[in-house]
Order: sequence, then structure tokens, then C-alpha cells
Amino acid sequence: MSVYLDLKKKIKSRTAVVTVVGLGYVGLPIALEFCKKGFKVNGLDTNANRVKKLKKGISYINDISSEDISRVLRKKKPFYVTMDEKVLDGSDAIIVCVPTPLRKTKEPNISYVISASRTLSRHLRSGQMIILESTTYPGTTREVILPVLEKRGLKADRDFYLAFSPERIDPGNPKYDFTNIPKVIGGFTKYGTELGRLLYSQVIKKVVGVSNPEAAEVTKLLENTFRIVNIGLINEFADLCHRLGIDVWEVIKAAGTKPFGFMPFYPGPGIGGHCIPADPMYLSWKAQTVGFKTKMIDLAAEVNRNVPGNIVKRIGRMLAAGRKKIKDSRIFIIGVTYKRDVNDLRESPALEIIDILQKKKAKVSYHDPYIPRLDLHGLKLRSSGLSSPCLKRQDIVLIVADHSGMDYRMIADNARLILDTRNAFARSNIKGDNIVKL
Ligand SMILES: NC(=O)c1ccc[n+]([C@@H]2O[C@H](COP(=O)([O-])OP(=O)(O)OC[C@H]3O[C@@H](n4cnc5c(N)ncnc54)[C@H](O)[C@@H]3O)[C@@H](O)[C@H]2O)c1
Repeated sequence: MSVYLDLKKKIKSRTAVVTVVGLGYVGLPIALEFCKKGFKVNGLDTNANRVKKLKKGISYINDISSEDISRVLRKKKPFYVTMDEKVLDGSDAIIVCVPTPLRKTKEPNISYVISASRTLSRHLRSGQMIILESTTYPGTTREVILPVLEKRGLKADRDFYLAFSPERIDPGNPKYDFTNIPKVIGGFTKYGTELGRLLYSQVIKKVVGVSNPEAAEVTKLLENTFRIVNIGLINEFADLCHRLGIDVWEVIKAAGTKPFGFMPFYPGPGIGGHCIPADPMYLSWKAQTVGFKTKMIDLAAEVNRNVPGNIVKRIGRMLAAGRKKIKDSRIFIIGVTYKRDVNDLRESPALEIIDILQKKKAKVSYHDPYIPRLDLHGLKLRSSGLSSPCLKRQDIVLIVADHSGMDYRMIADNARLILDTRNAFARSNIKGDNIVKL
């Protein structure tokens, strides 16, 4: 009980030392928020380049400015960034935000979580609280991390606390950030959950406790399964509407006027990012271990997987209408990130679209203010400026990520033919015979 009370006191008085392990899209905003609220915060990362940049006050995440970093480096209790795991010795609360990608086989790759747990176990001491935020399959906290941490004799919920809290941030979203998205947390006992809740409520408006880590782990997977299934549904629906000659965007808008029982999802060039393509596969993999087949996930994944290929076929048909072939055509892609207003290329459908177009011998170039250079299996491309001569040279322009601040009027006025996979022009009230929507 004294461990619990001691930690509680430290968190309440903001004297607890917080260490964030993994300073990426998830970890960095969390670290900065605890800094802003007066905690002594350390950031531990294995990526020398990232650590070097942060030490110099340079941000590599577009939702965080370099000024934000410089400000926390100058604080009375400055943000301390390091690659040295010894920093864990003096830490009271440790939040782990390391990657959980998929292997080539589409199976979970929790090697970063295991490696981080081993690092933590080398410095574990009585009185610490550890929270895993990396998205993962249910059972990871209890079956994978707990045994590693307890190996040296310390016991969870007696000597230290361990909990899982999924991260829900939505990079590029100006309305919701880490502080106003409710946070879910599940510890092994009510004490672990309560301590986690107390810690996060120092920086987040609403924290919701659940009864165990598995419930917290699977909450995140439900959220992203809900998304992959609905995106798959609307992508299929869009394909059908196109064949029937119906404007799917108009239909979604009309259906969205129903005040209950409908939530709009939008078609696009395919799913991307670190979450939607990967997280449901974690659940699907776990389901198999208990002999369960996740038919909805598998079907949605298949529908979404086919979207980039279908986009290329559509480009082929559009070019054929003007007696052109994909081969040797100039195809200009605007926005290559996986979604609007982020600098994240992970799993971006643009990469697959470019890959297919290259194989068909198209002359592909792109513009993306967030991605100055692209290296695609050795193919090196540079972002071209968005100018009238450049657009006029193209046989077709493809909108993949609809970044804000882009001059859509100028694009519409200069491009010969446009395939808009995001409905970006209609949203800006720009019409034209040269603009084709999904
Ligand atoms: N990016 C998102 O929008 C988002 C949203 C919700 C949840 N998530 C989940 O959060 C987790 C982190 O995602 P991210 O986008 O921040 O990843 P990221 O790749 O941007 O950052 C992860 C960081 O962890 C570091 N790292 C790896 N192993 C380490 C170790 N052993 N010790 C210390 N640092 C280590 C890496 O160098 C990297 O800087 C993933 O599980 C992801 O699925 C991501």
C-alpha cells in the first residue's frame, strides 16, 4: 500500500518523474504535455537521429513545431532527451510508445515492445508505474510484458504497477489532440487503474478506467476494426455507385442528414498509416489462436487492399478515353502521405499506386509539401513545384492526399484531367469538366 500511496502523492504534487520511451508521433506529444504541466520529463529513444534533432530543438512531427520543443528544453525542469537507458533508474512513471508494425506475413511484430520491456526490467525498482500505449493484441501486457518485468523478483501491484492505455491521437486533426481525446486505461487491479487514471488526468480532460489491460487493449482494436470495416464498405459502395452512374459523395451527404444510426465514412485511394492497415490484423491474429476467424476484418482488408489497383485501372480508362495508354503517360500525384496534413508516409496508398504505375512504365512525378523526397525500392523521386507549366505538361493529375492550403483552383485551371480520390475540389466548390470524382 505504501508504494501506491507514495506514487499517488508524487503524481498529485507533480513531483513524479515521467519518462516516455519512444518519441514518435505518439510519444513526443505526450512527453511535451507532461513537461508543460510542470513534471520533470525524460524522453528515451533508440533512434540517434531523432534524439539529436530533439536536443537541438528540431521537430520531426508536423503537429509539433520546433518552437514547442525549444520551449520545453528551456523550462525550469527541462525536457531531457537521451538514448541512455539509465535515465529509467530515476523515473517514477514510464510510458511506452514504441512501434507495433506488421511482419511481411501480416503477423504482429511486437519485437520493439519486447525489447523495451527488457530495457525496463533492467532498471525496474519498487515504486514505479509502467504504462504501455503501443497498440497491440489482447494479452500482450499480461502474457508478454509482465513476465519480463517480474523476472527479477519484483511483483506487479505490490512493488510496481503495470497498465495498458491505448493511444487515440489523430495526427493532423486540428480539433482533437492528446489533451481532449478521452483516454482509456486498464491495470491489473483497481489500484493500478486508479494510479494510471490519476497520472493521465494531470494532462487529459477525461480518463476512463476499465477493469483490466485486456479490455483496454481490445478497445483500441475495436475502434480501428470499426474503421477498417466501414472504410471497406464505403470503398466497395463507391465502386458500385460509379458503375451505376451515381455520385457516391452526394449519397453520403444525403445519408448523413439522418440524425441517428448513420455515421459517414468516405471512399479514398486506399487505407494507410500505422493504425488502420495494421491494428485489425493484430486482432485477427489473436483470434486465430483461439480458433476464431474474423471474417469481417478479413473481407474489409481484402476490399481495401484492392483499392490502389482499382485506382490505377480507373486512370487507365480515363486515359484510354483520350486514346492514351498508361505507358509513357505523364501522371502527376498530388499528396503522397497516407492522409491530409501529416508528414507520415507509412503504408500510404500513394506508394502502391506509384509502384503499379511505374511497373506499367508511366512517367510518374509528384508534389507534396510534407515529403520533399521519396525513395521507393531504390526509385528516387523529388517533389516537384506546383506550377502551371508543370500541371499543363501532365496527362492526368491524381489527388491522393488532400492537404489543406493547396491551391485547388490553380490545379483545376491548369490540369488537363484530374482524378480526385478525396472529393477535394467539390469541398472547395470547384467544378470543371476536367475533374473526375471517385
Ligand atoms: N501514429 C499514430 O497516429 C498512432 C495513433 C495511435 C496509436 N499508435 C500506436 O502507437 C505506437 C507508436 O506509434 P508511432 O506512430 O509513435 O511510432 P513511431 O515509429 O513514430 O515512434 C516510435 C519511436 O519508438 C522508438 N523506439 C523503438 N524501439 C525503442 C526502444 N526499445 N526503446 C526506445 N525507443 C524505441 C523509435 O526509434 C521511434 O522513435 C504504435 O503501437 C502505434 O500503432 C500510433
